[in-house]
Amino acid sequence: MKIKLLSILYLLNLFIGYSQQKNYDKEIEQLLSKMTLEEKIGQMNQLNFNGMSDNLVQQIKKGEVGSLLNIITPKEVNELQKVALENSRLGIPLIIGRDVIHGFKTVFPIPLGQAASFDPQTVENGAHVSAAEARELGVNWTFAPMLDISRDARWGRIAESLGEDPYLAGQLGAAMVKGFQGKNLSDPTSIAACVKHFIGYGAAEGGRDYNSTNIPPHLLHNVYLVPFKKAIDAGAATLMTSFNDNDGIPASGNEYLLKDVLRKDWKFDGFVVSDWASMTEMLAHGFAKDAKEVAKISANAGLDMEMVSGAYSQHLKALVESGEVSIADVDNSVRNILRVKFRMGLFDNPYVDTNKASILYSTEHLQAAKDAAIKSAILLKNDNVLPLKENIKIAVIGPLADAPHDQMGTWVFDGDKNHTITPLKALQTTYSNINYIYEPALSFSRDKNTANFEKARQAAASADVAIVFLGEEAILSGEAHSLSNINLIGVQSDLLKAVKSVGKPVVLVIMAGRPLTIERDLPYADAVLYNFHPGTMGGPAILDLLFGKANPSGKLPATFVREVGQIPMYYNHFNTGRPAPENVMALDEIPREAGQTSLGNTSFYLDSGKDPLFPFGYGLSYSTFDYSNLVLSASSIPMGGELTAKVTVKNTSNVDGTEVVQLYTRDLVGSIVRPVKELKGFQRVDLKAGESKTVEFKLTTDDLAFYGKDLVKKAEAGDFDLWISSSSKEGLKAKFSIQ
Ligand code: BGC
Repeated sequence: MKIKLLSILYLLNLFIGYSQQKNYDKEIEQLLSKMTLEEKIGQMNQLNFNGMSDNLVQQIKKGEVGSLLNIITPKEVNELQKVALENSRLGIPLIIGRDVIHGFKTVFPIPLGQAASFDPQTVENGAHVSAAEARELGVNWTFAPMLDISRDARWGRIAESLGEDPYLAGQLGAAMVKGFQGKNLSDPTSIAACVKHFIGYGAAEGGRDYNSTNIPPHLLHNVYLVPFKKAIDAGAATLMTSFNDNDGIPASGNEYLLKDVLRKDWKFDGFVVSDWASMTEMLAHGFAKDAKEVAKISANAGLDMEMVSGAYSQHLKALVESGEVSIADVDNSVRNILRVKFRMGLFDNPYVDTNKASILYSTEHLQAAKDAAIKSAILLKNDNVLPLKENIKIAVIGPLADAPHDQMGTWVFDGDKNHTITPLKALQTTYSNINYIYEPALSFSRDKNTANFEKARQAAASADVAIVFLGEEAILSGEAHSLSNINLIGVQSDLLKAVKSVGKPVVLVIMAGRPLTIERDLPYADAVLYNFHPGTMGGPAILDLLFGKANPSGKLPATFVREVGQIPMYYNHFNTGRPAPENVMALDEIPREAGQTSLGNTSFYLDSGKDPLFPFGYGLSYSTFDYSNLVLSASSIPMGGELTAKVTVKNTSNVDGTEVVQLYTRDLVGSIVRPVKELKGFQRVDLKAGESKTVEFKLTTDDLAFYGKDLVKKAEAGDFDLWISSSSKEGLKAKFSIQ
């Protein structure tokens, strides 16, 4: 009986998998053949919901709207879907979009924090919870994941990214797509994903949002496009173009990217939406002279749906009639949109079930958010202070100790701060056994009033340990929120110094939207726990970590620089012709009137050296791990072959812990120059105190393929270095070659 049930479930699963991929060609062609040009253009039009109005109802009735964004009231969603289904001529349902970026009501750590977990399962769970909550209010399409590779912490949207590495962002982006979309797009707990922003948006010059990018073809293919391809292969239903121009061509008018790369090479069959008015912003870019030309450029480039700016609805008809845009291009766009709507099951049931019991902020969702926050925290320093004992007295200091809004981070439209559990609130509830004194000293991160510093010092003096919660308000990162100085803002560093001067051990807990330049703060903290804004459950997660109920395991998804002037600095850079030696002279060591060439002419900064403060992949634990016995299955593999790399990892401490074991390679000589290291694999390995495990990675020559001189993706024969390690900096090293 059990076997029978299992095989039915298996078949059902196969069927579900199949139906998700189904093309619906017959249904689409039938519908398309009945559509007028106006109705086709209507599908390509997305409006922002500004409340119910007769005008909107009329537009939907006439088939002039394909999608709405920012409507989150089930009653209104149902009313408008009813108009679309029952009162428009062809009964085509609406797709309802919303930015569900790192949670819906239950807020998870910002994506950069989730990336620090190096855990696809955690990311997938978070997206699935967010999808289920969003569906409850009628949202069936999210504008996430954001897969912009970001090597610049000044850029505010680094917060929304999955970090600097294309492999990590690709693995986690694919996991996020799976989490949002579930097994089947038509499942009542799934929403369609939208990979964004295509492409290069995170490489904005100077980290200034919306700025131009200059990404040459090899870099584009080997770095920036990589996570998009991975997420599309994982089934992402839609894709969004970006605001930036790359090398002079705005993304919403880039035919090469949208047609050649996305459709021809990648065989993407979902639909492409513009970013908010990114089409008509081609006027400001100076790429089109009027809205009609905007519509022409984007339609010819293969952009399927316009977000809010109305150029298609105003001008596409005339452009098709005059032959400036082909009906074939319009038909293809409409096919892409309808395909997604069919796959989502919207023709069968686009309605929200308002009778279902609410799952918003359910215990399971809060637990998942807490788990994600625990896995996302990175221990950067620990001079034998952490974990804390529960029988001591702590002084809780700083503006982020009780900042329910800011703790949620950027780009939260739906999370309610009243549900946030801050560290202070956790002390008042789940950790009520802890003896603490609270003195925020500053009321928010930019607060410059030092009047209460003395009170903070006194609080520290009265306690065994001071925990100083510093960081950034949510508004300081995210879209259009770039910074040119990324030190702890305001007088927060002064507060830390003041507290430290009391002589008690100091634990610095940071909650921020980006990697901040904290080198100058490190001497004043005995331990540093870094949290990219951790979301609704950040407080209990942080307390579990501080008191050792949980053991830190997060690793940095982006390089932490010493000085903002080092940016861009990232681990997978090229070697250059003059790499700096292991040790470079410090500024103060340079003799007076030193000869021009006496320092050696290599690539580093006189004042901040050649290394970052903390490298990509770095993060400590309360456990210590030892790596030994790196063994490769072969010293040489044929093209198309596979290599196994094994290593022994031992927990040499008396605390159970989890280590993110990382695999890096370097292709020593290429037809174009190759990065000094590239992440090729990672595994979270749980190790009990004293336990050893053999960790195994498989690597095929396809995993080593890249776009070389001829811009074709393939592996090249030659010698490789391989490391298995605990960060991008150190590691056990071996060599192999591809024949
Ligand atoms: C952002 C997108 C977002 C869109 C819709 C734009 O400003 O760049 O990421 O999805 O708004 O809210």
